[in-house]
Amino acid sequence: MARRRLKLVVMVIVMVNFFLFIIISRHSGQDKDGRHKVRVPSKPFWAKLAPSQAYCNRQQQILDLQNNPVLAANYSAADLPDWLNETRLTSDLPCRPNLRVTTQVKDYNSLPDRFKDFLSFMHCRSYPVTVDQPDICREPPFLLLAVKSLAPHFDRRQAIRQSWGRAGAVANRTVVTVFLLGNATAGDHHPDLSGMLRYESARHGDVIQWDYRDSFFNLTVKEVLFLEWIQRRCAGARFVFKGDDDVFVNTFRILDFLGGLSGPQARDLFVGDVITNAGPHRDKKVKYFIPESLFTGTYPPYAGGGGYLYSGDIAARLHNVSRRVALYPIDDVYTGMCLRKLGLAPEKHKGFRTFNIEEKYRSNPCAYKSLMLVHPRTPQEMIQIWAWLSSADLKCQ
Ligand SMILES: *[C@@H]1O[C@H](CO)[C@@H](O)[C@H](O)[C@H]1NC(C)=O
Ligand SMILES: *[C@@H]1O[C@H](CO)[C@@H](O)[C@H](O)[C@H]1NC(C)=O
Ligand SMILES: *[C@@H]1O[C@H](CO)[C@@H](O)[C@H](O)[C@H]1NC(C)=O
Ligand SMILES: *[C@@H]1O[C@H](CO)[C@@H](O)[C@H](O)[C@H]1NC(C)=O
Ligand SMILES: *[C@@H]1O[C@H](CO)[C@@H](O)[C@H](O)[C@H]1NC(C)=O
Ligand SMILES: *[C@@H]1O[C@H](CO)[C@@H](O)[C@H](O)[C@H]1NC(C)=O
Repeated sequence: MARRRLKLVVMVIVMVNFFLFIIISRHSGQDKDGRHKVRVPSKPFWAKLAPSQAYCNRQQQILDLQNNPVLAANYSAADLPDWLNETRLTSDLPCRPNLRVTTQVKDYNSLPDRFKDFLSFMHCRSYPVTVDQPDICREPPFLLLAVKSLAPHFDRRQAIRQSWGRAGAVANRTVVTVFLLGNATAGDHHPDLSGMLRYESARHGDVIQWDYRDSFFNLTVKEVLFLEWIQRRCAGARFVFKGDDDVFVNTFRILDFLGGLSGPQARDLFVGDVITNAGPHRDKKVKYFIPESLFTGTYPPYAGGGGYLYSGDIAARLHNVSRRVALYPIDDVYTGMCLRKLGLAPEKHKGFRTFNIEEKYRSNPCAYKSLMLVHPRTPQEMIQIWAWLSSADLKCQ
């Protein structure tokens, strides 16, 4: 039965191909002598690109056109469609707000302030470093642990130093830990913590800070600044973990996992808790709400920003490609967009539990042994779990 059906399918395919052959050969331009004529289109034959109604999509269209070598070669400023004249992406320092955006986003005035702030500074990617650790990677680490933190989270950073972020040699591999901070004092009536941060940085030598406002929608700025920092200060790192300061990371398990990789598996590594088939939330009450005037379409697969792991090679490629990807207010989605531009997709790994583990296992030391990341954990819990995992007495089957 199956064989007969297969025969039928093959017959149909052969017939279709035969007809196609006839149609194409009748239409292929042959002049009277039977020679092939090559028709050169005198005008571009592709559809004229229509500007998207959503601002972030439109900015991406502009970047795509500017970076298209075929089109760029032949687009003079006068040829550009009107809407491409909208924004020039400049990197003047200090970066000034883009005032035109107020008229270019149709519901700009009714958007919550965080969107207005994001939109008017969306073209700014470069901010001065105020605290740096230029020599922290003098000996290139096997693993660079980069923790997104906020200035007031002194206790979280200290717990990480005392537990999973212990720098130096862990399990015989060099590990370097850095904390990524913006300026939490900029605006918003925050107390001035800069003196305490200076002390912390002098004491531990692991704080990196840039002078921009450290807000949720500016986490993407932190991402591009960090990608740039890696290339400048730590380009020799074999692997990079980037995550939040409220997660527990099983550094032992991660080193074990990385030690077993080689070749393209190691070179193209990007693993985490991958979210697929997602799109912008349209419910105004959700933290991740994005209005339609900002973005339409679906998100590429992306690894949840709680923490993901990638190779130093990918870090360099992400840095390269990020210049061609318009900033997006949600940092992990942005990294997914950059990966997609590179033709890559993050890989899901069961060891990354950004949505926690079942309650009944949370106080079981053995539950953490095979995991790489669990979210969320308090500073006290981080130290407790690390003690469990470091104990020589821990016996799990
Ligand atoms: C670009 O346009 C010029 C004339 O305007 C033409 O000579 C040239 O061949 C074009 N180049 C490409 C890559 O289309
Ligand atoms: C685009 O801007 C340039 C310079 O600002 C101007 O000369 C040109 O006419 C503009 N093009 C269009 C289509 O508006
Ligand atoms: C630690 O690393 C050194 C050099 O990389 C190696 O010689 C040694 O065998 C390693 N020790 C263990 C326990 O893996
Ligand atoms: C943070 O911002 C405040 C207010 O704009 C400024 O006074 C301060 O110098 C900034 N601090 C750092 C470390 O950049
Ligand atoms: C991002 O940081 C810049 C520079 O400090 C600031 O002007 C802007 O308002 C911030 N954006 C958001 C969404 O907070
Ligand atoms: C970065 O881009 C440049 C040019 O676009 C390319 O020559 C270089 O190989 C790229 N580097 C990486 C690490 O992808």
